[in-house]
Amino acid sequence: MSMYHVPILLNEVIHGLQIKKGGVYVDMTFGSGKYSKAILDAERKVNVIAFDCDSDALANKWQDKRLKLFHANFRFFNHFLDYLNIEKIDGIVADLGVSSHQFDTAERGFSFRFNTKLDLRMNSHAKFDATTIINTYSFDELNKILFEYGEIKESKLIAKEIIAIREQKPITTTQQLVELLKPYVKNGKEHKFYAKVFQALRIEVNDELNALKEMLNKSIDYLNTGARFCIVTYHSLEDGIVKNFFRTGNTDGLITKDVKGNVVGEVFRNITKKPITPNEQELHENQRARSAKLRIAERL
Ligand SMILES: C[S@@+](CC[C@H](N)C(=O)[O-])C[C@H]1O[C@@H](n2cnc3c(N)ncnc32)[C@H](O)[C@@H]1O
Repeated sequence: MSMYHVPILLNEVIHGLQIKKGGVYVDMTFGSGKYSKAILDAERKVNVIAFDCDSDALANKWQDKRLKLFHANFRFFNHFLDYLNIEKIDGIVADLGVSSHQFDTAERGFSFRFNTKLDLRMNSHAKFDATTIINTYSFDELNKILFEYGEIKESKLIAKEIIAIREQKPITTTQQLVELLKPYVKNGKEHKFYAKVFQALRIEVNDELNALKEMLNKSIDYLNTGARFCIVTYHSLEDGIVKNFFRTGNTDGLITKDVKGNVVGEVFRNITKKPITPNEQELHENQRARSAKLRIAERL
């Protein structure tokens, strides 16, 4: 049986979190639970509240009364903390994107390597999937997601092609999508190109960027002074949002200055001026670590 997920930048995240005795930590993306486990192993007197929107992740929980795991989108984490009467927390970890389990389970449709249903839902209980997008979105909507989320230059041509093909027959499988993309791929760049299209669909299906923004903006009220926020991102859209948020304290990147030009109401101290990336050994051992970037900030 393959491993659910090999954690990326684990030591760097745990070191960056500066775990304190008696602290409450939130793991926004439980996955295999390896980040949560490392937090609990680092200090006996801590509590971890964890979330994952994929019900498959729930099977990875082990018995530990210091750990609470919720099957929920992290954009709603505040409701769970309120329910638990937790007003303040001492740190957050968020390891964004998909797990290897999601990527390697053929029928989930996250990978163009398998011929399967166009799905790409992180939460298998959700109604909205990639088949719906491909078969119902207008030309403008398809063009927008391909261009903005996949950074695909040929977005207009591909959107037009999708509409032409689906008028003959619904597009329901990963293979049908890959076939229609083939004429637009430059030789030797197939994998990168398909990965970008699948990334665009995944972001839209799971409303990933809005969920991230919502979670970040809500976090400010819950973080204690001195609490650390460690986020691992895997593409430039996510990383840009996190970078802006740590710099300005809001995901719109708005800075307020007083009459003398000094920044007012700073929210975070940036700990990583440049993001931390995996070292040679981790890159060698885990191909999937190659696009990872860790940013850390401390609540002022
Ligand atoms: C990269 S994996 C996390 C791996 C984890 N750090 C580990 O050690 O196994 C990302 C996980 O976050 C979950 N996820 C992604 N976006 C989410 C969201 N908005 N709310 C809740 N869980 C989310 C995915 O289902 C996936 O299991």
